[in-house]
Amino acid sequence: MTEKNTPQEYIARNKENFLAGWFEALRIPSVSALSEHKDDMRRMAEWLRNRLSSAGLAARLVPTGGNPLVVASSPEIPGRPTILVYGHYDVQPVDPLDQWKSEPFEPTIRGGNVFCRGADDDKGQSLAHLFAAESILAARGELPVCLKFVYEGEEEIGSMSLESYLQSEEGRATLAADAILVSDTDMAGPDTPAITNGLRGILGCEIKLTGPSHDLHSGLYGGSVLNPAVALCALLGKLIDRNGKIQVPGFYDDVVTLTEADREAFAMRPFDEKSAYAEIGLKQSFGEPQFTVLERRGARPTFDINGLTSGYQGEGGKTIIPSTASAKLTFRMVPNQNPAQLFENLRAYLAEQLWPGVEMTITGSQMSSGFLVPLDSPFIQAAARGIERVFGKAPLFIRDGGSIPVVSTLASALGADVILAGFGVEEDAIHSPNEHYALESFYRGIEASVAILEELGAMKYER
Ligand code: BES
Ligand code: MN
Ligand code: MN
Repeated sequence: MTEKNTPQEYIARNKENFLAGWFEALRIPSVSALSEHKDDMRRMAEWLRNRLSSAGLAARLVPTGGNPLVVASSPEIPGRPTILVYGHYDVQPVDPLDQWKSEPFEPTIRGGNVFCRGADDDKGQSLAHLFAAESILAARGELPVCLKFVYEGEEEIGSMSLESYLQSEEGRATLAADAILVSDTDMAGPDTPAITNGLRGILGCEIKLTGPSHDLHSGLYGGSVLNPAVALCALLGKLIDRNGKIQVPGFYDDVVTLTEADREAFAMRPFDEKSAYAEIGLKQSFGEPQFTVLERRGARPTFDINGLTSGYQGEGGKTIIPSTASAKLTFRMVPNQNPAQLFENLRAYLAEQLWPGVEMTITGSQMSSGFLVPLDSPFIQAAARGIERVFGKAPLFIRDGGSIPVVSTLASALGADVILAGFGVEEDAIHSPNEHYALESFYRGIEASVAILEELGAMKYER
């Protein structure tokens, strides 16, 4: 191995190779929410295992009750920390299909961006670490840390299999690490790197209202039968007011008040509200007026309707009273809120507010708490130095609104610190039509991962 061969030079020489690998992964439609993609999930997991093996790591699939986990590790190096890279290979569904400007699973380059479902979330982001490991091993023959990987295929549907793997002795031993490195979040702005130190949790549920045994003629029965769609609208209208305040009793009881220092940290993040809203076709924001937009997203609980279904959706009109109406809801949770308790409060409140004449069923899902990462971790400080080396400026520490629920379980089950070093930006349109990721972000992610691993390897480390 000649010394002039650095990982950085290897990256520069292998841009085409990495792009081709990313594209191969993007062409596999690994949508976890849809059972018709079961085979694609396995193909995607196998693709990752093969690429990790050819990079020089010991990689295998762990079968689960759901989609397989991909785990890999490098040999242990005495005196060096063990770093576990976490990523997810599943993606969100692509609907509405007619709004995509190119095929959702055919990566297409336009204006320096790669458009494809998963381009950012989380294939583009998480492959950076795999390609970084490949680069370091090719250039130097060994890694600066003991490196492990875990890729799961169920992040977008609640991480059930990884959660239960972490309940097992074997799972915890396989994944044991000092720190967990995750790229599945956003930067503070297009040119402002960040380490995320707070994410929101989530409480999901589905409500179904059932009225008459079948759809009825709305002229014959209208006015004499409670329409489930009307009842659902009335019910959902009781959940939030026009100032974004959630109406469920006790909802804010455990929410921690923001300190001056918290608010200053939010204000540090470069954010042009007008242009950010223009980008999504809006003239104004919504929400609690006493909080800034970034505070509402990062530190306040919220309520959303993700899907609403009832009655006739086809062309033209159809005069019916639908037999059922249903809604998929999510609440975002902030640290210290207890989602299980809030689900009970929600259920009681909805039962009390429901108009008589329809039956209601509520099923809960995806319960996780918001969390904050302590910033005094030496692993986070080392990662920050690596990011600074590549970006030429120190990362901001930011609290963001999305959720990666399994990360807090990983941290507590393994007793490890979490480094949320993401390279996406808000404009990447994750979960939306035309998701994309900048080629520059992709390559910079690989370079940053190399620098982070080098800094982690150079830490003064004792176990
Ligand atoms: N990568 C996102 C979360 C994210 C994105 C956090 C940007 C911060 C900035 C993740 O894949 C995601 O979408 N999570 C889901 C979790 C849910 C399905 C349980 C979410 O937040 O809706
Ligand atoms: Mn993600
Ligand atoms: Mn996602």
